[in-house]
Amino acid sequence: MTSRGLASWEAGAETDRVRVVVVGDEPTLARVPAVFSGAPGLPAEVRVDSSAPEEFGAYLESVRAGHLAVVFFLTDGPGIPSALRALRDRRHFDRTRVYLLTPDAGEVTPETIDTCDVEEAIGRRHLTLPMLAQMVANGVRAYRALGANPLVPRNYLDAQWNEVFDWFETTKWDWREVDLSRIEKERLSDDDVEMLHELAIGEFGTLPAAHNFLREWHDEYSFSSWTLSWGAEEARHALVQSRYLRAVGVELKAKHAMYKREPYPMGRHRAGTLMMNIISETRASEYYSALARRVSEPVLRRIWTLLGRDEARHARAFAVFCKELTDRSDEDRRAALEMAYVWLADRSRGIKHPAGFFYPHSTTTRGFRRIEGDLPRITDHADQKILAIIRKMLRDDSLQSVADVKAQLRVQLA
Ligand SMILES: [Fe+2]
Ligand SMILES: [Fe+2]
Repeated sequence: MTSRGLASWEAGAETDRVRVVVVGDEPTLARVPAVFSGAPGLPAEVRVDSSAPEEFGAYLESVRAGHLAVVFFLTDGPGIPSALRALRDRRHFDRTRVYLLTPDAGEVTPETIDTCDVEEAIGRRHLTLPMLAQMVANGVRAYRALGANPLVPRNYLDAQWNEVFDWFETTKWDWREVDLSRIEKERLSDDDVEMLHELAIGEFGTLPAAHNFLREWHDEYSFSSWTLSWGAEEARHALVQSRYLRAVGVELKAKHAMYKREPYPMGRHRAGTLMMNIISETRASEYYSALARRVSEPVLRRIWTLLGRDEARHARAFAVFCKELTDRSDEDRRAALEMAYVWLADRSRGIKHPAGFFYPHSTTTRGFRRIEGDLPRITDHADQKILAIIRKMLRDDSLQSVADVKAQLRVQLA
């Protein structure tokens, strides 16, 4: 095993630098002696090694999986090189991208490419240095794009998103279920309209939340894909309530949506972010449902009933994604519990979507505080449901109260 040292590789800077290795026997390597030597356009952070096939196992033992970006196997026939099998037998090298350089193009079967997760098989007869440099650059980029999130599966459909999709998609309400032409305006009070106004504005806070979910979950596609469905539902919540307001002669000002367009700080821990949303969705569900029971205008009662059910579905889905994390590590369990304690123990931060907490210049929290004032037991009831979700998620029946959450946290931090 030798190092060609084409690019600088400084000790102590390994986390930013990656390795590329060319695997072939001496005669083969000799036939392509300059393939990587001084290739123009080679990423500066790449170090290129070479290895004889019989030494490749030892080479793999000597490098960290997180550093091996690309392997070029120089082959003389259509078969799978045993060195390639050695690489793919080691699951921790799944991210490593593989190129086969064969004497001629088209020698490698699609089965080989699929079985060994080969990026591309290329005939080396007409290979040029710029082409190789481009392949290295593409390989390194592909390797980096895979990221290091352990929840990303090998097969696309093995993600939680695929599990959640059917029940989520088939339980959403039909837009035609709400007929604003049937509003019985005389049954509407000024209080109802004011509350509706506040709730519609509150829903605007979900747009920056969707933005933040995509930023925070940048290294996967599962929760991110579900976020698009969730965000689309939340946008309907804002729209249907705004349209109702217009139908009764009240215009909702666009400024309220714009006040919440600034991104807010990303969460420090994903399990904590998800727990925060389990809490906000469950509380929102209880508020909408309680308001629906109280209002006498039938179209508004229908809207709030539907939105209450939506928010409960949202809480359930957030819990599924949170459980995926808390099942994996104690650190995630602790983060979820910490967030639960913060929001359940102290309601002064705001009681609906915690996103509202980040927008003190917006007017929404006043309305939600009024809901709590009007319906004092609703938050207690919601928080009991939240504790039930947490017990199920963490498989811990001891968590019956906020004090139990605190006690459990003490144990975990000890
Ligand atoms: Fe909503
Ligand atoms: Fe929601």
